[in-house]
Amino acid sequence: MPSVLITGANRGLGLEFARQYTADGWRVYACCRRPDTAADLLAIAGGSEGQTTIHSLDVVDHGQIAALAKELWDDPIDLLLNNAGVYEPHQTHLGKIDFAAWANLLAVNLLAPTRIVECFLDNVARSDKKQIACLSSQMGSITDNKSGGHYLYRSSKAALNMVVKSLALDLHDRGVTVVALDPGWARTDMGGADADLAPADSVSGMVHVLDGLKIGDSGKFLSYNDAQLPW
Ligand SMILES: NC(=O)c1ccc[n+]([C@@H]2O[C@H](COP(=O)([O-])OP(=O)(O)OC[C@H]3O[C@@H](n4cnc5c(N)ncnc54)[C@H](OP(=O)(O)O)[C@@H]3O)[C@@H](O)[C@H]2O)c1
Repeated sequence: MPSVLITGANRGLGLEFARQYTADGWRVYACCRRPDTAADLLAIAGGSEGQTTIHSLDVVDHGQIAALAKELWDDPIDLLLNNAGVYEPHQTHLGKIDFAAWANLLAVNLLAPTRIVECFLDNVARSDKKQIACLSSQMGSITDNKSGGHYLYRSSKAALNMVVKSLALDLHDRGVTVVALDPGWARTDMGGADADLAPADSVSGMVHVLDGLKIGDSGKFLSYNDAQLPW
C-alpha cells in the first residue's frame, strides 16, 4: 500500500487529496493544525479503518515538524505532499507593503515546505515511489507574470519553485523525484467561488500527474492538466 503525507489536509485541496488517496487505498498521513475541529477530515479517517490517520501539525512550528518526523521515523512515505499554504491578506501595492505579513507568508509557503522535506527525506528515500510534490502556483512563474503586484504571494511561490529545482538536483542520486505542482484555479477558500475548477477535478488531475511521474520529470513545474509550465 503506497503512502502519502499531506499538510493542510483539513480543507480545500488538501482535504480533497486526503479523500481521493483514501478512496484509492493509500496509507494517508493527514496533517492539520486543529484535528479536533477538522470535521470533514475526521469523517474520512473515521471510515477508513485506520488507513488514514490525522496528525497535528502547524507547519510554521519547526519543533512540531521534527517531533512528527520522529514519531513516523519507521514509516516509508511514498509521496510527501507540501500542500499547506496561505494567500496574501490583501492585494499588495508598492508603497504599502506589509512586511510583517510577508514574513509570515514566507514562513508558511517557503520555509515550512523546505523544513518538512529536511525532516521527512529519509522516510521518502526509503519508500518505493520516492516522490516530493510542492503546491506552487502559476502566480509564482516569472515568465507568466504580466500584471505585476502580489509581491507577497508571487515571491513565495517563485522562491518555492527554486527550492524544488535545487532539491531535484540534490536528491537525484537518491532516486527522489521532486516537482512543483500548479493546481489551476480551484474553488477553495483561497481560490474563491468564481474559480474555474472544482477541487475534485483539480486534485484528480494532480493525482494523475503524480501517478505518471518518472525520475526524469524531477525539477519540473507541472500543471494539474499535465502541461509543463515555464519558471
Ligand atoms: N485554490 C487555488 O486556486 C490555488 C491556486 C494556486 C495554488 N494553490 C495552492 O494550493 C495549496 C492549497 O490551497 P487551497 O486552495 O486548498 O487553500 P485553502 O483552501 O485556503 O486551504 C489552505 C490550507 O493550508 C492550511 N494552512 C495554512 N497555514 C497553515 C499552517 N501554518 N500550518 C498548517 N496548515 C496551514 C490551512 O489550514 P487551516 O484551516 O488551519 O488554516 C488549510 O488546510 C496552497 O499551497 C495554495 O497556495 C491554490
